[in-house]
Amino acid sequence: MKAKEGVLEYLQKVVTLELTAVHHYLLHAGMCDNWGYERLKHELHERTTDEIAHVSKVIDHMLYLEGAPDVQKLDAVHSGESVQDLFMADLKLEQEDVKLLREAIAHCATVGDFTTRHLLEDMVVDSEEHVDWFETKLRTIKQVGLENYLSEQIKK
Ligand SMILES: [Fe+2]
Ligand SMILES: [Fe+2]
Repeated sequence: MKAKEGVLEYLQKVVTLELTAVHHYLLHAGMCDNWGYERLKHELHERTTDEIAHVSKVIDHMLYLEGAPDVQKLDAVHSGESVQDLFMADLKLEQEDVKLLREAIAHCATVGDFTTRHLLEDMVVDSEEHVDWFETKLRTIKQVGLENYLSEQIKK
């Protein structure tokens, strides 16, 4: 099926961002593991799985629309010196993701592509949950202090 105008361009942006998220969480899970925070490692690995599922769905949909998904492109992957830095970088990425998905959904509505719109609407629900997940983590750290928080992250 042929895509409506501008839809493949938006889907490509989503693929790049979701792939960037996969790389973010792979790296951050590895860093948490290296620092000894096994529990966080597992939680971030679950995020990786979510993002792989997202990117996979969008790739399938681009192919269905006779597009050519580019999986070589990646946005900058940010890390940091502490768990807090990682969470802040992750939160920023998820916020960008929500913004992009909302824009893409609005575009799909304009051009009358309801299938793509539906796919992206499902994804934005997950992304908003991801934003909330990192906001909650950062708020907890503020409330209990970084040391207390991290002492809870050592065991799975
Ligand atoms: Fe995602
Ligand atoms: Fe996400």
